[in-house]
Amino acid sequence: MSIPLSIAWTDGQLVILDQQKLPHVIDYLTLETIEDVYEAIFTLKVRGAPAIGIAAAYGLAVAAQRHDTETVEAFLEAVQTDAEYLGQSRPTAVNLVWALERLLKTVQKTETAEAGKALLIEEAERIHQEDEASCRQIGEYALSLLEGRGRVMTICNAGSIATAKYGTALAPFHLGSERGRKFEVYACETRPVFQGARLTVWELQQSGVDVTLITDSMAAHTIGAKDIQAIIVGADRIAANGDTANKIGTLNLAILADAYGIPFYVAAPASTFDLATRSGEEIPIEERKAEEITHIGHQPVAPLGTKVFNPAFDVTPAHLISAIITEKGIIQGDFQRNIPEVLNLYAGKGDKL
Ligand code: MRU
Repeated sequence: MSIPLSIAWTDGQLVILDQQKLPHVIDYLTLETIEDVYEAIFTLKVRGAPAIGIAAAYGLAVAAQRHDTETVEAFLEAVQTDAEYLGQSRPTAVNLVWALERLLKTVQKTETAEAGKALLIEEAERIHQEDEASCRQIGEYALSLLEGRGRVMTICNAGSIATAKYGTALAPFHLGSERGRKFEVYACETRPVFQGARLTVWELQQSGVDVTLITDSMAAHTIGAKDIQAIIVGADRIAANGDTANKIGTLNLAILADAYGIPFYVAAPASTFDLATRSGEEIPIEERKAEEITHIGHQPVAPLGTKVFNPAFDVTPAHLISAIITEKGIIQGDFQRNIPEVLNLYAGKGDKL
């Protein structure tokens, strides 16, 4: 039994687990160019907000190694252009822009292009390492909140493979498994891309957690029939007032948790907060291609040419969230006031590159 990982920095190369092919094919890809990284993020080969940020950070560092410029100014300009390009690979997860901005800020200090190249790699590695530590700490806090609540529902994959390690929403289950604490996890399949069925079920099985798959439409019935005691999900972007964007279907679960009177927890690192975004209304919601809905695999399931609306995320209003679990502490109550206090974060992040 082991916790799967999805990103490795090995001998100066960025290697990712191809999440498009899971669970039946375990394939690793070396991303050699910035275009490779963009494509891997856009097509969900690497996905999950923190993992997207880590991959983009390494992608920017990898691309920088090839810039052969005459002046440091020209080097910095090339890195800026690369960051703007990578920043457009997906719109909703703020970790992407957060990681790129962090690298841009670091590299500004450099006096030479060569030193700048090294700084970028070091900063990407730091982001990678910090995310693992953050997720572990989120797991510890989540374990304390889930005391006495062993039957838990989740959606999408906010797991180890969506982060550096452990995950956010799935971190308590991995840590619990290491310590002999038993959970029964109910994973919503997460149409249309099936991150729940393909990724969460596989990941939890790898680490020995008891997991049961349901379709998204079974959530309401299952909460009652199986006496679900809590719901825990990840996040792609959390606004200053606590409104939270996460995988489409998350809002359904938040409404159900409220109706059933069970806690609804969001688990996310500080890098997922965007205090420059005041509320959920300002969060950009990615819309993906129609074929994700009209087809399952290559099999059409709707009449050809069917009109489709395919938002990849929804926004859960803060008032439906019982607590936001971060590596810096558990945030409850007045989110507008308590988020900056717990995270020690102030507006300014998430601005355009
Ligand atoms: O479209 P995806 O698979 O990237 O969406 C992922 C999610 O919505 C996750 O819940 C979120 O990014 C948190 S991952 C720790």
